[in-house]
Amino acid sequence: MKKLLISILVFAIHFSANAQNTWSNNIAQIVYDNCSNCHNPNGIAPFSLLTYTDVKPNVFGIKASIESGSMPPWIADTKYQSYAHERVLSTDEKVAIIDWVNNGSPEGEASKTPPPPVYGTKGFITQKPDLELKMPVYASKATANGDDYVCFSVPSGLTKDKKIRGFEVIPGNHAIVHHALVYLDGTGNYPTDTNAGVCTGPTKGLIGGYVPGSPPTVFPTNGSDFNLGFTVQAGSNIVLAMHYPEGSFGKVDSTMIRFWFYDDEISIRELSTNPLIENWQFLLPANKETNVNATRNIGNNDYSMLSVFPHMHLLGSKIGSYAITPTNDTIRFVNIPHWDFEWQEFLFFEKIKKLPKNSTIYGYGTYDNTSKNTHNPNNPPVLVRPGLNTTDEMFLIYFHYLPYQAGDEDRDIEALTSLGIGDYNSLNVAVYPNPSSDIINFRLPEESYGSMQLRIFDVNGQMVYEHKPTTQSTNELSWDIPEGIEAGVYFYSMNVDGTLASGSFMIQR
Ligand code: HEC
Repeated sequence: MKKLLISILVFAIHFSANAQNTWSNNIAQIVYDNCSNCHNPNGIAPFSLLTYTDVKPNVFGIKASIESGSMPPWIADTKYQSYAHERVLSTDEKVAIIDWVNNGSPEGEASKTPPPPVYGTKGFITQKPDLELKMPVYASKATANGDDYVCFSVPSGLTKDKKIRGFEVIPGNHAIVHHALVYLDGTGNYPTDTNAGVCTGPTKGLIGGYVPGSPPTVFPTNGSDFNLGFTVQAGSNIVLAMHYPEGSFGKVDSTMIRFWFYDDEISIRELSTNPLIENWQFLLPANKETNVNATRNIGNNDYSMLSVFPHMHLLGSKIGSYAITPTNDTIRFVNIPHWDFEWQEFLFFEKIKKLPKNSTIYGYGTYDNTSKNTHNPNNPPVLVRPGLNTTDEMFLIYFHYLPYQAGDEDRDIEALTSLGIGDYNSLNVAVYPNPSSDIINFRLPEESYGSMQLRIFDVNGQMVYEHKPTTQSTNELSWDIPEGIEAGVYFYSMNVDGTLASGSFMIQR
């Protein structure tokens, strides 16, 4: 009896472990949520992770990258401070993926796989932008021992002031765009400068930036009384300060920036962005580790701190920042224990940090100028000073901030930066009849007329039908289901003049 009980128990445990994790019942959703936004056919990662067919050959690499913590890429210590949109897997998610790989990565019931997300060809945000600007085509002048820093001042063409709710930089050439800083030039006079290769942008007006892998910038809004952003004045230019690294000589780029604006009647609170912490006075002797610090007293006003963006180059190994208030409380901003030049970005705090007047901000960094640092551009190491080239160093910590108002610290920044922009199903598509055996119709609401593209995929991600966009405007498409198509679940993805939608339907036979 006891033996029977034990074997039932063992069977039950074994069964539940197996039943827990298959691609279709659990793993697909974790991958869609944490990996696919970079690992898709238009993403920045070198291979796609959207379907079982994509994932299966990569399972051991996936397991290794999760065990080592290299994927998803994210550099800030989330025990020190919490951020909105952290790219980190929970322990449960990690265990689920590792167990699944150890158990032979079964697919499970294919028809139960949730529909994969759809990504545009132009970036993360699928909703139509209110303004899209492109810098001219430019061939990098970076040389073997100098990077190319150039500025493009692009007329916004705006005839009315607009309030920026979000923006997205879309590099024309992923391989050579090292970073892009985005500035507003209200005078409209700031010149394009591609002469000396040392232009890092105007002294004022920074609103954010792009580095490989960074998400689009969406400022917090609740749609009524709490709306943060930047006003861009009529007649302004948008300045893109571009950085092309050495080795990119002759390669061409034409980076684009897309803006989403608040409705004109909404009033916003203006943000500022500045390197509140900076140090340009240090020396990094060869074969040594060196610490660099900086401080700033914020003066006689309370501030609300929205984000932090630490910046150093290839010798950086650690960087962090915090503040001490006049009553000796510590306010934590950021701690990056292993600096990685490739994955730097503006980190938005989960909750705004209130910085009381007369607080002092501290910044600290460590540079490893030894040959043990595998990113050291010099072998053997040489003396390095602060400067603009990637082979020089920098110590800067930018913040997005604004004058404090009561209640700021209680806002949920993750929820308030997800509103609207970035919704996949911003189109309300009616799919009928569902299930169907002969014809299936896709209809948009009346006002959504446009040039429609429709693609239909089977559960393995194989495309079985495509309607290419034509010049004709329509709000309805039909698909006559051919003989050879098997019964099962199918996914559709639709693109109507750049607005995307996706979903699933059933075919019966
Ligand atoms: C923010 C973008 C981004 C996200 C999110 C992301 N990756 Fe990656 N991934 C990359 C890029 C870019 C590379 C290319 C190598 C590199 O530059 O590190 C890569 C490389 C990889 C590799 C190759 C080996 C390695 O470690 O470099 C694996 C495996 C991988 N990713 C798995 C994953 C998995 C699994 C997830 C989700 C849990 C994920 N990635 C999430 C961008 C991303």
